Amino acid sequence: MSTTVKHNYRGMYHFSPNEKWMNDPNGMVYFNGEYHLFFQHHPNGMTWGPMHWGHAVSKDLVVWEELDIALAPDENGMIYSGSAVVDWRNTTGFFGDEPGLVAIFTHHLPQEGDLYLQTQSLAYSKDNGRTWTKFEGNPVLKHESYIDFRDPKVFWHEDTNRWVMVIACGQSVCIYHSPDLKSWTFGSEFGAGIGFHGGVWECPDLFALNLDGDSSKQKWVMLVSIGDDPAYKEGSRIQYFTGSFDGIAFTPDESSHTVRWLDYGRDNYAGVTWSDVPAKDGRRLYIGWMSNWKYANLTPTEGFRGAMTVPRELQLRSGADGCATLVQKPVRELEYVRVRALELTNVSWKEAREALASLQLESYEMKVVASSGLSYAFKVKKGDQGETVVGVDAARGEVYVDRAKSGLYEFHEQFRGVHAAKLQSPGATIDLQIYVDRSSVEVFANGGQAVITDLIYPEGDALGISLTVEDDRLLLASLSVYEMVPSAKS
Ligand code: FRU
Repeated sequence: MSTTVKHNYRGMYHFSPNEKWMNDPNGMVYFNGEYHLFFQHHPNGMTWGPMHWGHAVSKDLVVWEELDIALAPDENGMIYSGSAVVDWRNTTGFFGDEPGLVAIFTHHLPQEGDLYLQTQSLAYSKDNGRTWTKFEGNPVLKHESYIDFRDPKVFWHEDTNRWVMVIACGQSVCIYHSPDLKSWTFGSEFGAGIGFHGGVWECPDLFALNLDGDSSKQKWVMLVSIGDDPAYKEGSRIQYFTGSFDGIAFTPDESSHTVRWLDYGRDNYAGVTWSDVPAKDGRRLYIGWMSNWKYANLTPTEGFRGAMTVPRELQLRSGADGCATLVQKPVRELEYVRVRALELTNVSWKEAREALASLQLESYEMKVVASSGLSYAFKVKKGDQGETVVGVDAARGEVYVDRAKSGLYEFHEQFRGVHAAKLQSPGATIDLQIYVDRSSVEVFANGGQAVITDLIYPEGDALGISLTVEDDRLLLASLSVYEMVPSAKS
């Protein structure tokens, strides 16, 4: 019997479906005290297949309850990715006195040969997302040709008092607007001559963020997922643009003419943000699918396949070059489920190493603050059959994850490898937040400016942690390790 079958790779604080296949997060919306997370789901298979919207809810973004399937294929096709909004003003007329949820999604209908038709449709719910009714006027938006036309992300645009949709259109993003979610008017198309085009464009998102937390310096951010293309070893990944938006067109900043990636690991894809998070909370909350189309159908899990990243807050920070940089921070709610295992301040690296040697942990968060001129490496998920290395290379000015010896990798020739992210203008110290779970490592460095999200499939016990450093007599500003203990599914 192989170790594949014996190992439990279900994350303890990462969402995965109870059973079977999952890909993109869909329709994330906050309503009546619940965060909703829908997801691309094949309820009858361990690989991608006829798509449904699975559904989970959470009060705290950390502990999720999976509910019944929300949307299943019908005569218009499979249910591809899309978004959900609260129709506060009853613009659709679907609701009475109480506002409800509207999902805007792609219907995918295979045609003769390799052709398919992708159209946009609506469904609504009057009971907090527990049951859904498809709109009888579906589809509400079609394209005149058989192109990739999918993944509508809709939001209410205050300045123009109407809905805006961004939607992937081949290798661009089309922007439409609507008074009622039912009739849509084309506004503009973004993408020609800008960004990375080595793959189909998918799952766009568009939202405003305050630069450096200053509301007088707002910018718009566009996320665009880029599909896998065999020519690129990175597989599927997300790029972002910053700029301005007037309700019709997105105008990119000069800095957006350089391709910028959201994540420098391999496993953060099709991510978009939550709708209707209350203004008094004010956060722009994000979650991504923690996999890669290069090998998503092959990963060695049992009973389920697919996990989400930890939820993250997105912020915009101005870099030394004056450009607005998108930073990601794990949501604070993750702190509520952690238990202190180790907290050290101003100790030598040698003492830190000795303290780590006594720990045996399955899922945890590690926080490190260390002098920026130094190279060091933590080995996590370390056991007799491998380890995953998370390190800082001072000479290269990079943080990296090396999963070459992390465990199982044979399922795809491009799974092994080292993934690095540049540290932009670090100060005197570098901070690292490292989230380790049964089959993933997520690293947030330099205040979330450099992020690496990687799947791993450790073999053996793999509960140890160790470290190596250039000179272990030097001081380490702080090192903390917290075990993550939500109600774990086994
Ligand atoms: C992205 C994607 C979307 C599509 C969905 C299908 O991963 O390809 O463009 O709607 O997955 O499952």
